[in-house]
Amino acid sequence: MNKYYLTTAIDYVNGAPHIGHAYEKILTDIIARHYSQRCDDVFFLTGTDEHGIKIQKTAAANGITPKELCDMNAQKFKTSWAGLDIKYNRFIRTTDEDHEKVVQHIFKKLVEKGDIYKHSYEGLYCSGCECFLNEKDLTEDGLCPDHLKKPEVVSEENYFFALTKYKDAIIKHIKENPDFIVPQFRANEVLNQLEDIRDISVSRAKNNVKWGIEVLDDPEQSIYVWIDALSNYITAIGYDMENPTEQFNKLWPADVHVIGKDILKFHSIYWIAILMALELPLPKHIFAHGWITIDESKMSKSLGNVISPTSVLESFNLETPDAFRYYMATSAPCGKDGNYSDEDFKEKVNAHLANSMGNLLNRTLSMLVKYFDGEIKSEFVPTADTELVEGSFSLLKESLGKIKVVENHFCRFEIAEAAQEVISIVDKTNKYVTDNAPWTLAKEGKMNECGQVLTTVLNVMCIISSLIYPYCPNIAGEMARQLSYDLTKKLDDVTLNEIKLGKLITKEEIKPVFLRVDSELADKSVKK
Ligand code: ME8
Ligand code: MG
Repeated sequence: MNKYYLTTAIDYVNGAPHIGHAYEKILTDIIARHYSQRCDDVFFLTGTDEHGIKIQKTAAANGITPKELCDMNAQKFKTSWAGLDIKYNRFIRTTDEDHEKVVQHIFKKLVEKGDIYKHSYEGLYCSGCECFLNEKDLTEDGLCPDHLKKPEVVSEENYFFALTKYKDAIIKHIKENPDFIVPQFRANEVLNQLEDIRDISVSRAKNNVKWGIEVLDDPEQSIYVWIDALSNYITAIGYDMENPTEQFNKLWPADVHVIGKDILKFHSIYWIAILMALELPLPKHIFAHGWITIDESKMSKSLGNVISPTSVLESFNLETPDAFRYYMATSAPCGKDGNYSDEDFKEKVNAHLANSMGNLLNRTLSMLVKYFDGEIKSEFVPTADTELVEGSFSLLKESLGKIKVVENHFCRFEIAEAAQEVISIVDKTNKYVTDNAPWTLAKEGKMNECGQVLTTVLNVMCIISSLIYPYCPNIAGEMARQLSYDLTKKLDDVTLNEIKLGKLITKEEIKPVFLRVDSELADKSVKK
C-alpha cells in the first residue's frame, strides 16, 4: 500500500460546528493517522459546503452577504478542528476559485454528453435537505421527516441529470462489492432507494438561488448544491478534464469517503452516477457513521442542546483534545449511533486513560527507578528461551499480534472496536502486573524476575503507544518520550523488543501522561 486518500463530508456553514460534525472529523483523522503508520502518502481532505438557498437565507436574516457568512463560519470550523488536532492536508471551500471553475467544466461536459438536459419541473423542495422530496417520503402532515418543515412547491425550468441511465450499473456495483458500503447493513437501504429513483434536478433558476455557481453559457441557472458539493472530492486534488494533475492521478480513486448515514444516498447513488458519467474510477469504500445524540436526545437548535467541541474542552479544562477524541471515537460500534453525556465522558476517560493506561506506565516506570535506578538489563528481556516469569513472553507476543488485529478492524472502519482491543491489552497487562507482584519479587530479592516483569510491561507499552496514537496523539507522544520509543515507526516495523537497554529514565522525567478529569470541574456541566 503506498497511498491512502480519505475525505469527510463538507459541512454546511450556516452555523458553527457541533460535536456531531466533530465526531466525523475525529473518526477520519484517526483513520488518517492510522494509515500514516502503514503507508507513505496519506491525503486527508475536509472542508465546507458554502452554496445554496440555506446559506443565502441565513445570511439575509443576519443582514450580511453570503460570502461574509461563509468566511466567518468556515473560520469557526477551522479553529475547532485545530483545537481537536485534526491534521488535514487540504481544507476545501466550495467557494474556492479552483473548485468553482472545475465544477463548471464538469457540468458542461455532462451537458455535451447528453447526461444533463433541460426540463420543466414542479416539485417539493426542502431547503433543509437542499433537495427535492417525493410525496411518499413526507410525514402524514406533509412535512420533511428530517426537518419537520413543509417543503416549498417549486416550479422551474432546470437542468436534470440522467441518473436513471446508471441505475443498473450502480445496483450491480453494490451487489458485486459487499465492502463498498460500510457497514454492510446499509447497502440494503441503498438498494431499496435505487428501486424508485428518478432523474434529479442539478440546477436552480438564478432568480431563486443566487448564491451558487453559474452554469457556463447559461447564466440564468445556478448549479445546484449536490453536484457542486460532491465534486469537491476530485476538484480538491486537481481533477481537470483535459489535464488532470499528477496528484489526482496518484490519489484517485478515494480509498474512503467518511460521511453520516443521512447523506449516504447522495454518495452511494448520485456521486457514483456522476463518476460513471465522467468515466472515472469509483471510490473503494463509503463509510456511513451513525448519529451522535446528547443525553440520548437529538441535538437541535430548537431543543437548545447543541454542544460545541470547544465548550467540552474548556469546561473540563482539558489541556489536549485526546480525551474528547478518545471518547467520541469509542462512543458507538461501527455505523451505529452514539451518545454524549458529561457523566459518561468523565467516567470513561478517567477509567481507561488515567486509571488503566496512564497508571500502568506511571507505576511501572516508578518501580524501574526504585528497584533498578531506571536501568534495563539484557537479562531482563523476555524471549522464548529466557523467560523467568511465566506468561511474560506470551503477553509480549500477544500484544505484538494485536497490531494485525487492529489493522484488520481499521480495514473495516471499526474504530471503536480497534480501540477496545488496545484497552484489552492494557487490562491484560494490568492483570499480569497484579498476578506477578513485582514489589513482592523485589522484597524476596528475585531481582531478575522483577526486572523481567517491568521490562515486559514497558515493551508492551511501546506497542500500546503506537496503537493508541491515532486516537490520543499527545498522550501517545508523552508515553513514547518516557519510554524512549520512536513513535514514527511504521506498524510493520514494530518488533517484540522495543525497549532500550541501559538507563531508561530518571525520577524527575516520570510524569502522568493523562490527568484525571477533575470531578469538581466536570460537575460544571457543559450544557449551560
Ligand atoms: O450534509 N451526529 O452538511 P451537514 C453525527 N453539506 N454526524 C452528524 C451529526 C450528528 N448529530 N450532524 C451532522 C451536509 N452530522 C452536506 C454534505 S458532502 C459532499 C456534503 C454529519 O453540515 C452529517 O452526517 O448537514 C454529515 O456527514 C456532516 O456532519 C455534515 O453535515
Ligand atoms: Mg445535515
